[in-house]
Amino acid sequence: MQDKIDSILKYALEKLDAISLADDCQKLRVELLGKSGKVTELFRYIKEVDADQKQKVGQMLNSLKTKLDEMINAKETFLRQEELNKQILSAKKIDITLPTNAKTGSLHPRTIIQKQIEDVFVSMGFVVEDGSEIETEYNNFTAVNVPENHPARDMQDTFWLDNGQVLKTHTSASQNRILKKYNPPIRAIFPGRCFRNENIDASHENTFFQLEGVIVDKDVSVGNLIYFMKEMLSKIFKKEIEVRLRPGFFPFTEPSFEMDIRCPFCDGKGCSICKNSGWIELCPCGIIHPQVLRNGGIDPEKYSGCAFGLGLDRMTMISAGIDDIRELNSGNLKLLKQFKLDL
Ligand code: DAH
Repeated sequence: MQDKIDSILKYALEKLDAISLADDCQKLRVELLGKSGKVTELFRYIKEVDADQKQKVGQMLNSLKTKLDEMINAKETFLRQEELNKQILSAKKIDITLPTNAKTGSLHPRTIIQKQIEDVFVSMGFVVEDGSEIETEYNNFTAVNVPENHPARDMQDTFWLDNGQVLKTHTSASQNRILKKYNPPIRAIFPGRCFRNENIDASHENTFFQLEGVIVDKDVSVGNLIYFMKEMLSKIFKKEIEVRLRPGFFPFTEPSFEMDIRCPFCDGKGCSICKNSGWIELCPCGIIHPQVLRNGGIDPEKYSGCAFGLGLDRMTMISAGIDDIRELNSGNLKLLKQFKLDL
């Protein structure tokens, strides 16, 4: 009996070795363990075996049956897994010759304009700086000449945090850090997201973007400010842009101005974008107040500076002809996709 068992085991091992398809395992199972299988046949011999050997032979055959079953199962599982892996791999094959119709995303129009403006200023020797969105009260107000209890603080409806810090109400909040970081001559721009507790309407947002610039050197004048702004505008709008200054008020500049540009869409003749006035209000600016320079560790007797606070949302709206600031934060793809900033 042992010989028969051994030869069946040998046969099974050879067969399993040669099998390369999972389905063939099932065929082997039938051949060995099925109704008229080789092992099933052996069980029939039991009745011919001596009574005292019956139990032992029965056990031997049972353990042969279990062993074969396990061997076949193991091979079948292995082959099935292998077949599955092959299927997955072939499904993952990428046909690089297939044309793509993938919908790729695009930059937000405000990001596009920001990058374009940054490029122009960088080409004129400016560094691009970053600022945090949570600021100290000192940086946001005191350092830019808006002391505690000064009514000028009311100009900006501030989100105060429990720890006494603020959500940056304007990019001017980074001025002090930048003045301290660099020695004059300084040419820096710093774009950033700002927050104010505004009632939202078509021209007011509680979350908006500015791009601030400072120039500090010996004998800086309003002429320098106009020069840099005109250079930037002519590159962005791809034509010479006329600007004008009107008096304004900001605690951190003295004198302060509002800069307007001759409407680039109608060249000043009057259109819906400039509301028929021929001019578009662009940004506040001015000569940096001596106290602001002093707070930044710069001697106002030696150096002077100018600054501007360009509204990035405003600039985007002018460039793309968007008339409601709320659209910019809406995430409305239908709307945003319409604006290819081809300036
Ligand atoms: N920080 C001002 C605001 O958000 C804008 C501003 C005005 C910035 C004059 C300047 C400036 O740099 O010179 O209201």
